[in-house]
Amino acid sequence: MKVELTVNGKEVTADVEDRMLLVHLLRDVANLTATNIGCETTSCGACTVLLDGESVKSCTVLAAQADGQSVTTLEGLAADGQMHAVQQAFHQEHGLQCGFCTPGMVMAIVSLLKENPSPTEAEVRTGLEGNICRCTGYHNIVRAALAAAEAGK
Ligand code: FES
Ligand code: FES
Repeated sequence: MKVELTVNGKEVTADVEDRMLLVHLLRDVANLTATNIGCETTSCGACTVLLDGESVKSCTVLAAQADGQSVTTLEGLAADGQMHAVQQAFHQEHGLQCGFCTPGMVMAIVSLLKENPSPTEAEVRTGLEGNICRCTGYHNIVRAALAAAEAGK
């Protein structure tokens, strides 16, 4: 089927199989490879993107379901050569090690802070329950989320 969506502000049109996942459309058709594939079973959060502003696991959404909608990936966050506040906070707080989970973590935190601009540490930890990191122990990721919230005040 033909799908037309907006990805990071640009129109993307493609003929896709009905079963194609959104994450595959982003990586293989739109060539946006920041969005990672970890589990493909909705467990790890590596594939988190924003769909019409809401965070979704793009391995759980069919490309066809995103037809007519707007997607934001990690590549779409920086503006005018400046990192997004959440990206800056990850840099400042060293919120990553191997970086595999990072795009999904950043997108999940962008969504979290949109819904709750001043979260507590507990609320950040709860909000990131769907995103798995096997390297950091989460501590600096949570610090980065709180620092981004502070910077947004
Ligand atoms: S790849 Fe989508 S949740 Fe793990
Ligand atoms: S930094 Fe390696 S999985 Fe999170």
